[in-house]
Amino acid sequence: MAAKLMVGNWKMNGSLAANASLLSEVLAGMGGKTCRAAVCVPAPYLAQAQALLAGSALALGAQDVSAHEAGAYTGEVSADMLRDFAVRYCIVGHSERRQYHGESDVTVASKAQRALAAGITPIVCVGESLAERDAGQTEAVVKRQLAAVIHTNGHCISEIVVAYEPVWAIGTGLTATPEQAQHVHAVLRAQLQAATAHADRVSILYGGSMNAANAADLLAQPDVDGGLIGGAALKASEFLTMLKAASR
Ligand code: 13P
Repeated sequence: MAAKLMVGNWKMNGSLAANASLLSEVLAGMGGKTCRAAVCVPAPYLAQAQALLAGSALALGAQDVSAHEAGAYTGEVSADMLRDFAVRYCIVGHSERRQYHGESDVTVASKAQRALAAGITPIVCVGESLAERDAGQTEAVVKRQLAAVIHTNGHCISEIVVAYEPVWAIGTGLTATPEQAQHVHAVLRAQLQAATAHADRVSILYGGSMNAANAADLLAQPDVDGGLIGGAALKASEFLTMLKAASR
């Protein structure tokens, strides 16, 4: 398995000034870290982040991509546009997009397809709500969400990244226990193994209130290959502590 992958998802936060100071602090503290790392910034700041990250070990990511190639889709950003800014990763199917923007499993699969076609690694998010967990549907939900992406992208499924983000753990301070995370990650790994001989190449990240205090325990699980980090990625010192935990 490759080095752990730690990805900051800034969500709709930041400004030119705030980004510049956050990125300069993170870059200054990154020396010697051996994990892979990236930040997914809001689309208007891609050019700024591309310039600041050029030549560094911190990769650039986007938070969403259009399911369409080009044309009359006001407000959308295409995968080719992201590629113009040397974007390496793109989150697709984040639960906030599924929930607030009505993105279906099919839409998410198309977005992953657009990213892959442009040479961008999609970070495919899956995860159950609290009601679904309480109803014993966790495995069925995440498998359904991943199955749509496998169905559309089966031939290159080993090139995606998966992020397990239980909806009830996002921004709530509630974290899945390492055992809960490992259980779902193992389910997802088995599903990938049934689809490709190269399932071990797929990094499966955990996301949901991951922070400097709980990262090491989560990352110690055999199928937790990294993290997708929201709030804690907006604080340089906290993000750096997590990169350190992932570099052990
Ligand atoms: P928090 O780390 O703020 O819970 O967010 C997780 C997330 O949604 C990352 O994509």
